Amino acid sequence: MTETVSVNKQLENSFSDVSDLFKGADVDFHALCRDMRHNSPVYEGDFIARLGIPTNAGIHEPRPTVALFKYKDVMAVMKDAANFTNGFIAEGLGAFFDGLIILAMDGDQHRRVRALLQPAFMPASVNSWRPMIDRVMREDFLLRLVPDKRADLMEFGLHFPIRAIYAVMGFPQDDPEKYKQYAGWALTMLGGIQNDPGKMAEAKIKAGIAVKSLYDAIKEVVVARRAAGTDGDDLIHRLLRAEYEGKKLDDHEVATFVRSLLPAAGETTTRTFSSVMTLLLERPELLERVRQDRSLLAKVIDETVRFEPVATFKVRQAAQDMEIGGVKIPKGGMVQCIVASANRDEEVFENPDQFDVDRRMKPSFGFGFGTHMCIGQFVAKIELTSAINTLLDLFPNIRLDPDRPAPQISGAMLRGAKSVPVIWD
Ligand code: HEM
Repeated sequence: MTETVSVNKQLENSFSDVSDLFKGADVDFHALCRDMRHNSPVYEGDFIARLGIPTNAGIHEPRPTVALFKYKDVMAVMKDAANFTNGFIAEGLGAFFDGLIILAMDGDQHRRVRALLQPAFMPASVNSWRPMIDRVMREDFLLRLVPDKRADLMEFGLHFPIRAIYAVMGFPQDDPEKYKQYAGWALTMLGGIQNDPGKMAEAKIKAGIAVKSLYDAIKEVVVARRAAGTDGDDLIHRLLRAEYEGKKLDDHEVATFVRSLLPAAGETTTRTFSSVMTLLLERPELLERVRQDRSLLAKVIDETVRFEPVATFKVRQAAQDMEIGGVKIPKGGMVQCIVASANRDEEVFENPDQFDVDRRMKPSFGFGFGTHMCIGQFVAKIELTSAINTLLDLFPNIRLDPDRPAPQISGAMLRGAKSVPVIWD
């Protein structure tokens, strides 16, 4: 019991450390983006550093940097993976993954690895995990809260994505609590990038230990799975069977990829959940529409990732001399695509500052765009849909708790609400 309490606390602390690290300056982020979009749509300078947010781009020598605020410019860069590359990510986060992080791959290497992994993440495969995810939401988390009639939804939101991924991957279900340890390690890895050079050395050591611990735990499961045969339906089994152009993944590659998934899958879903629930609970009529017609949830999730994307920007590096909006970007220069601004560009979205699930949907950048677009988006959507459906089924008349502070979506990067206090009948 004491161990569970301390692992829970560790997880909460790691989550809030990462939130503090990436929250940046205390500004009205969307208002600032609007101002930049109108007055300085191609900004010459390091906009992200100006906000005090650590990035991979900033940990080595300063490089010429521009920030893009308009949809058309962001789209042009995200679509053009040949000229705007990701390899530099290996200098930061990627260093913790032996260079085997898909997000840091370019060109043919990325194409081959993505083709190997993609089938395991397509709806045909992801849909088969739906009953298991529904069971996790209901039985491992929400059923036991029903008699309390009040809760902070983020106590659930912090845990369910990693618990669900833990189940989807096929980790042993006789020790389901172990996912908390995995989640703590995953967050410690994200804390490995710091603004303050003084803190960097210590953060790197901690991240290094977390990376190794997670790898060892996962590798053990992968090796056991391979030895036992590879005909299961879970993600590890699917990756063991995956084949593209005659190439299969070895145990080291499966373990490394699975490890890199945990930070990608965990807190992104947690924060998106906090924003979806905040936006719904602030709009009781919409919440009622959703309660009556659950098919609306797909639109609610799409509109949330447009309106409040977790990752407010994506960075790319120019592979050769380029020019955007009349501004020259030399080879090696960094391009900051401010997707939270592009998602609210009034030239593309009518009334962009309104949360409107009935709008005609157009591609936004909440799950990225182009070759690196989120491979786990169908998993995330199934988890979010399952979590919200279960909440609506089990908590009658769920609404904001009038006795506690209303949730606030905040942060200049990794946006979301820290707490979402609710009551029900
Ligand atoms: C609501 C939750 C999620 C959000 C908002 C999100 C967002 C994103 C975004 C914006 C990117 C593109 C990054 C870039 O272009 O630089 C991305 C990539 C990625 N995501 Fe997600 N993600 C979510 C959930 C997940 C889940 C559940 C998984 C795994 C099961 C996952 C795995 C990945 C991976 C592996 C990549 C890299 C793909 C590549 O480089 O080809 N994500 N995600």
